[in-house]
Amino acid sequence: MLLLEQKTVLVTGATGFLAKIFVEKILRIQPNVKKLYLLLRASTSSSAAKRFHDEVLGKEVFRVLKDEWGGGFQSFISEKVVAVSGDVSSEDLGIEDLHLKEEILKETDLVLNFAAITKFDERYDVALGTNTFGALHVLNFSKKCAKIKLLIQVSTAYVYGEERGILMEKPLILGKAARSGRTNMDVLSGEIELAQKRLHQLHSQNRTDEEIDTGMKNLGLERAGYYGWPNTYTFTKAMAEMVMVESKGDLPLVIIRPTMVTSTLRDPFPGWLEGVRTLDGFIVSYARGRLKCIVHRPDVILDLIPADIVVDATIGITAMALANQHVDLVYHLGSSSKNPIRLPEIHRLSKAFFAKDPWKNRQGKPVKAGKVTTFSSMASFHVYMAIRFQLPLKIMGLLSASCCHKLEADYVDLRRQLKSGMRLIQLYKSYLFFDGIFDDTNLEKLRKRARDQKGLYELDVVEQLNMDIRSINWEGYITNVHIPGLLQFVMKK
Ligand SMILES: NC(=O)c1ccc[n+]([C@@H]2O[C@H](COP(=O)([O-])OP(=O)(O)OC[C@H]3O[C@@H](n4cnc5c(N)ncnc54)[C@H](OP(=O)(O)O)[C@@H]3O)[C@@H](O)[C@H]2O)c1
Repeated sequence: MLLLEQKTVLVTGATGFLAKIFVEKILRIQPNVKKLYLLLRASTSSSAAKRFHDEVLGKEVFRVLKDEWGGGFQSFISEKVVAVSGDVSSEDLGIEDLHLKEEILKETDLVLNFAAITKFDERYDVALGTNTFGALHVLNFSKKCAKIKLLIQVSTAYVYGEERGILMEKPLILGKAARSGRTNMDVLSGEIELAQKRLHQLHSQNRTDEEIDTGMKNLGLERAGYYGWPNTYTFTKAMAEMVMVESKGDLPLVIIRPTMVTSTLRDPFPGWLEGVRTLDGFIVSYARGRLKCIVHRPDVILDLIPADIVVDATIGITAMALANQHVDLVYHLGSSSKNPIRLPEIHRLSKAFFAKDPWKNRQGKPVKAGKVTTFSSMASFHVYMAIRFQLPLKIMGLLSASCCHKLEADYVDLRRQLKSGMRLIQLYKSYLFFDGIFDDTNLEKLRKRARDQKGLYELDVVEQLNMDIRSINWEGYITNVHIPGLLQFVMKK
C-alpha cells in the first residue's frame, strides 16, 4: 500500500474519461496519497471546483468509492483533492493563482498528462495548441517541479500513422514523416506559423466563423494526410511525442500508447464508459437500425483495450518507477499482439445481442437492426454510393411533380444518412483498413519484473492490478459488459 504514501500527483485532463478512472482508482487503492492536484479548464478556482464536483465526482464511476467512505466521503475528498483552474495550451499550464502554482511546483512528485483534444478533425490551431504545445508545456512545467520523479505522457498507439506490420515500442524521430518520400517536418515553429498564416488569411477574407472553423479543420486533415497520418488528432499527438523526447533532458519520462480504449472490464465495476468512442459509433448506429453498410479490410483486427487495464498498467509503470526499478520509455497498451479481436467477430456479437434484446426508441418501440452490407474495398463502396445517390435522381426525372415530392423527401433523408455514414467511414477509414500489430513486450517485461520483485514492499500494489491482456474473454466482455455498459451509460442519455 506504500506506493503513493506522502506523494503528490498532478493530473491534467481530469474531466476526461480515462483520467476519471485513474483518479478514482488512486483514491480507492492508495488513500494515503498526500494530494492530487487536478488541472481543469475553468476561469476561476471556484468554477474549477464546481466542474470537479459535477463532472468528475458526480459520475457513476465514483459510486464504489462513495459507498466505501459513506458519510466521510466529502471530507476525504476535501483533504486529498485540489481542483486547479488552468489550460495546458498556455505556458505554466495557465495556472494564474501564483501561490497555488508555487505550491504545486514545490510538492509534485508525479505528473500525468491526460489532457488532449481527442476529436479526430479538430481545428488545426486548437489541436496543435493542446496536443502538441500543451504536451510541451506539461513537460516544461514538470521539469520545474522540485521533487519530480516521473512524467507520464498519455499518447496513442496510432502515432505510427500509415506504418504497417509489427509496430515496436520505439520513440518517434523528431520531424520524421510517417509517409515515405515526404521531407522532414518543422514540427513546432513551422506548423504553428502555417496555422496562424491560414487563420489570418481566412479572417482577412471576411469569412464567417463557420467558414473559418471549417477552413482550420480542413488544414489539420490536409497537413496530417500530407505527412502520412490519418487525422489531425494522431498527427498532433505524434508531434507531441517527438518534441517531448527531444526536450526531456534528465526528466524521467514514460510515454504510454493505448490503442482504442473501451469500457471498464471490472474496476470499479464492469461496463463503465463515457461518450461514443471509435467502436461505439458503429455499435450505436447498428442498434438504431441506421448502419446500412460498412467498409473494412476483411478480418481487420480492431485493437481494443478496456479502460481499467490502461489505468492499471499506468499505475504498474508508476509503481516500478517509484520503486527505482527499470521502466522503458514507451509502452503499447493494446490487445492486437496477445489477444486480438477482429471486426467481423464484434459485428457477429453485436448482431446476436440486439437480435435477442433490441434497442428501444424514444417511443419504447424495439428497433430492428437490419442487414448491413459489407464492402472490402473503398472502390466497391464508392460504386455502391454512386448508385444509391444517382438512381433516385434519375427516377425523379421520369415522374410527375407530385410523385416527385415524396421521393424527394425520402431522398433528402437518404442523402443525410449516407452523408453522415460517409463522414464516419472517412474518419475511421484508416482504422478499418489498419494492418499493424502493436508489439507490447515492454509491459510483459514489466509484469515479469514486478512478479520477480514480489518481496519489495513498495510493489505490493502491483498485485491488485490487472495488466494481463490475455485475461479478456472478448465474447463475454462484448456481450455482457461492453454493450450493456454502452446502453446504460451512453445510449440512455
Ligand atoms: N479514449 C481513447 O480511446 C484513447 C485511446 C488512446 C489514447 N488516448 C489518450 O488518453 C488521453 C485521455 O483520453 P480520454 O479518452 O480520456 O479523452 P477525453 O475524454 O476527450 O478527455 C480529454 C480531457 O482533456 C481536457 N482538455 C482538452 N483540452 C485541454 C486544455 N487545453 N487544457 C487542459 N485540459 C484540456 C478535457 O477537458 P474539457 O472537459 O475542458 O474539455 C478533458 O478533460 C488523451 O491524451 C488521449 O489522447 C485515449
